[in-house]
Amino acid sequence: MDPSTSPHEHPSASPTVRVFPDPDAMSEAAAEQFVACMTDALAARGRFTVALAGGSTPRPLYERLAGPHRDDIPWSRVYLFWGDERYVPHDDPSSNVPMVHATLLDGTPIPRGNVHPMPTDRNDPEAAAADYADTLHAVFSDDDATFDLVLLGLGGDGHTASLFPDDAASTATDDVPWVRAVEAPPRYDVRTRLSLTLPAINRARNVFFLVAGAAKHDAVDAVLEQQNPALPPTHVRPRRRTVWFLDEAARFGNHD
Ligand code: 6PG
Repeated sequence: MDPSTSPHEHPSASPTVRVFPDPDAMSEAAAEQFVACMTDALAARGRFTVALAGGSTPRPLYERLAGPHRDDIPWSRVYLFWGDERYVPHDDPSSNVPMVHATLLDGTPIPRGNVHPMPTDRNDPEAAAADYADTLHAVFSDDDATFDLVLLGLGGDGHTASLFPDDAASTATDDVPWVRAVEAPPRYDVRTRLSLTLPAINRARNVFFLVAGAAKHDAVDAVLEQQNPALPPTHVRPRRRTVWFLDEAARFGNHD
């Protein structure tokens, strides 16, 4: 039974690290843990609030939730948000919205009113960030937890959501709004983005990182082993648990 949220909750000392032979096994385990987390939330609060990760790694997880696990989930009590978004129209191929529709939303009966993509139609991304923060403050009372679950990926450079390394605001755990407009480093195609910040992520109850592929090994090592403070994931400490879902390549690198 999920104990009622209390501001006195203390995050588990260290993250749980689960390693799987391949991305499929990793995604299936994450889907099962997603459903378990949902069950706790529904029993405690009658709703399940989730911030979704973008990128490509979570695709198989979303497809499983809309596929084999579809009927395990009372979709009318699930409320979906985004952890970050590229500041492009929602029908732009580089937006995270079409990916989530294709892999998750179009396969489930979730009421459209339960789905809250980040707005990208304001002239000013800062205004869009402030609007989304207002949405979150309306959904979550200020002195309580935010999401039941935040799903996060990890970039090869150690970014998560759209919080990039070597950016003080990306590693700030207070004194920044819950959502901010960000300029990604020049190597990224879409540089203007919106992102949850650590104060919003760390008020969540649970965080799942989903990371696969040898290209992510150095970043995984920098966070889990070296705890490099320049990397935003190092500062992710939700109220209850952080679980890392990794494939062997991401955890151990390529052993040719
Ligand atoms: C995004 C994501 C971003 C992603 C990482 C990993 O909008 O791009 O939120 O933080 O999780 O870049 O991306 P992949 O899963 O595609 O490797």
